[in-house]
Amino acid sequence: MRKIVVEGGLPLRGQIEVSGAKNAVLPLMAATLLADGVSVIEDSPWLADVETMSAVLSSLGLICDYICGSLHINNAGRMHTEPPDELVQRMRASFLVMGPLLARCGRVRMSLPGGCAIGARPIDLHLKGLEALGAEISIDGNGYIEATASRLRGCQIYLDFPSVGATENLMMAAALAEGSTVIGNAAEEPEIVDLSNMLSAMGAKIKGAGTNIIRIKGVKELKPARHTVIPDRIEAGSFMVIAAATGGELIITNVITEHIKSVTAKLREAGVKVEEGYDGVHVIGGPRPVPVDVTTLPYPGFPTDMQAQFMALLTLAGGTSVITETVFENRFRHAEELKKMSADIKTNGHSAVINGVKRLRGAVVEATDLRAGAAMIVAALAAEGITGIGNIQHIERGYENICGKLTAVGAKIKVVEEK
Ligand code: EPZ
Repeated sequence: MRKIVVEGGLPLRGQIEVSGAKNAVLPLMAATLLADGVSVIEDSPWLADVETMSAVLSSLGLICDYICGSLHINNAGRMHTEPPDELVQRMRASFLVMGPLLARCGRVRMSLPGGCAIGARPIDLHLKGLEALGAEISIDGNGYIEATASRLRGCQIYLDFPSVGATENLMMAAALAEGSTVIGNAAEEPEIVDLSNMLSAMGAKIKGAGTNIIRIKGVKELKPARHTVIPDRIEAGSFMVIAAATGGELIITNVITEHIKSVTAKLREAGVKVEEGYDGVHVIGGPRPVPVDVTTLPYPGFPTDMQAQFMALLTLAGGTSVITETVFENRFRHAEELKKMSADIKTNGHSAVINGVKRLRGAVVEATDLRAGAAMIVAALAAEGITGIGNIQHIERGYENICGKLTAVGAKIKVVEEK
């Protein structure tokens, strides 16, 4: 089994570059189903999740090539409509093909996406929106969804929760629907804006992405496009927290500082020096973070995808911090792993109380999900001694070459094969 082994206690110093955003490139890849021809997505990271989405698109008849940092996706127009269970179960974002397939082929059949370690993660908002657009949806006894639609028709949709995936699925479906669609209480994440920009480049008529009201005027046909994916704001935030937790100093480049305002504000509140530049941030960690309270919220609030990493930082604060997780119902599994490293954390439902300790100690721990795995790297780099992190496949889903990037700024971190 492969593990990440870290020798902690070293302040990291140097320059580190952020890759393209995982949570932007996956919907952008799904959008290539909407147009025949070759679309090119530049600055794409090469991650396990990108490989999985490439496999999903290939199973539907598209050809995906990754050439010098760009994805070239050729849609010859003859699409299948049943992505394989194994791929859908492996990655929830597979479900983003539903809207485009319904819009293009009028049919899709797929197994319900796997929930994962951070909660049930239903898809009711996706299905409700697609039904409002005119799709007939049934779920059979074996957990398969069958959706059909002779022609999607624009309508008013209100999302009970600003779901990122539901907003993306519905934007893509509405882009080729007959008439106009308004999505109310839409997600406002930067990844939504990035998808809207690519869809517009394909000829879609979309206004309001980045606000909670998105208006889409359906068109008959879309064309392939060339689009550059935005930088990964969560990878950027993870490196900022690493600089703070190791008491080091990192210049993090390829960052849209607007996208991480909430993380920057929280780090400054915790006594960390953050200077914002044109294309990056300069983070200088102090001796010990000041305790702060954090509540995760949909964008532009503090991102749930930064909650685990920030908890790792706060385990070293000079006092008590409280984290409230409002987006997912079960996103504290990393607390148990941090406690193996001498952290003092009590969780109760949606909140966690963290009493800062002077030092963390290296231990054998697990990555319970992608961002929990990132939290374990933060803690291991700050801890005294050696830490072994198992289940690193979770980490490889969302962090491109993380060991190489951290080694280049002084970390003693590597992947080892354990018999
Ligand atoms: C996206 O997931 C991200 N993934 C997640 O990042 C991120 O945590 C999440 O948005 C919130 O920001 C990708 O973009 C690929 P949601 P998504 O639909 O779209 C509930 C990471 O670590 N919900 O906004 O699945 C849901 O259960 C990953 O990179 C419904 O109830 O998130 C959750 O509690 C993890 N019904 C909340 O909404 C639905 O139909 C937010 O989910 C859909 C969602």
